[in-house]
Order: sequence, then C-alpha cells, then structure tokens
Amino acid sequence: MDEPNLQNLRRISRRDLIWIIPSAISAGFFGWLAWRTYSIHFTKTAVAEPLWREGPRVRAAALNELGAPWRFKYFEYAYQGSPLKAVVFRLSEPVVGGLTVGGAHFLALSRICTHQGCVVNYVDNPELGSIAYNYRTDHPFLGCPCHFGAYEPLKGGKAVYGPPRFPLPRLRLEEDEGVLYATGYETPFRPLEQG
Ligand code: FES
Repeated sequence: MDEPNLQNLRRISRRDLIWIIPSAISAGFFGWLAWRTYSIHFTKTAVAEPLWREGPRVRAAALNELGAPWRFKYFEYAYQGSPLKAVVFRLSEPVVGGLTVGGAHFLALSRICTHQGCVVNYVDNPELGSIAYNYRTDHPFLGCPCHFGAYEPLKGGKAVYGPPRFPLPRLRLEEDEGVLYATGYETPFRPLEQG
C-alpha cells in the first residue's frame, strides 16, 4: 500500500484554509447574531409581585398633576441616602406593583437602567420610539439612550427590547390627601443589588 504523500496533504490543507477560515468566521458571526437576536427578544425576566423594602416617604406627585392616562412626573427618591431618579405614571390599566386610587392606576419606577445604569427617559411618541428603540407599541414607554433598551410600563416596567434583561425596580406608592408618596422600593434593587 502506498504511503500518503505528506507534501500533497500539506498543500491541500493550505488550500482548504482559503474556505475554512472564512466559513468559520461566517459561522461565528451568524451564531453571535442569532444569540444576540434571541437575547434581545426572549431572555427578559418576568415581572412578579414585588418584595418591598421600607424606605423614606417621599412626595412623588399630586393626583391632579397626573390627571389622565400617560401623564407622568419625574421625581427624586432616596436609595440608602443617595438621590435616585424615578418616575411616576398614570396608566390606563392596573399593573402588578402599582396603586389604584378611585379608579385611576399609577406606577412608580426607578429610572436607572438595569443593564449598565444609564438614566432612562419617558418616550412619549411611540412612532419615533419604534424607530429609535425598535419597540412597536401604541403608547409611551421608557427608553434607555445608551444602548436603546426599552421598558414597558403596562407590564410593570418589564424590559421588552435591547440588552437589559431585568425590569426596572418599582417604588411602593401610597396616597394621602390627594398626594402620591413613594414609601419603599422593590428588592433586589437592580442594578445596584443582585439577587
Ligand atoms: S445602559 Fe441602558 S441599555 Fe445599556
């Protein structure tokens, strides 16, 4: 039996590299793209009943400042002594972790993105929002300008598009004489706490 010609094998191997290397790069790229697409759409943590931690009582908004669904107000809460950017909305329907007062539904959320801690903004134009954030809806939502993560208030602050996996932490609301107060916050308070 003839011995394999090592010279030929080496030449074939070198020739094969011309297609093996680009094929491997393409496979890697499309694998990464598939994983990224999957994680952007399908790896979001569901929003459950919140586990509250007591916090300071801070005025969020007067009820008459939120006179109709999708009115909102930014305010500052205090997380362990540090100022924390937050938002309170009036919503068109009740959501888990929110508060209903006289048939009106409210939700307060931290504005610190659970991805890498940028401050999220209220996106009040869903048309423009769908272009910037690639999230299609017919109502306002919260968007992060850093990597275009989107959060859905009607799902209790759930991350719905982009890199964030976890929802925005909710703040506990209480009403007293026509004023909404934030009196505590959800744990774990991502991204400042893990759990
Ligand atoms: S920090 Fe918000 S999406 Fe990355």
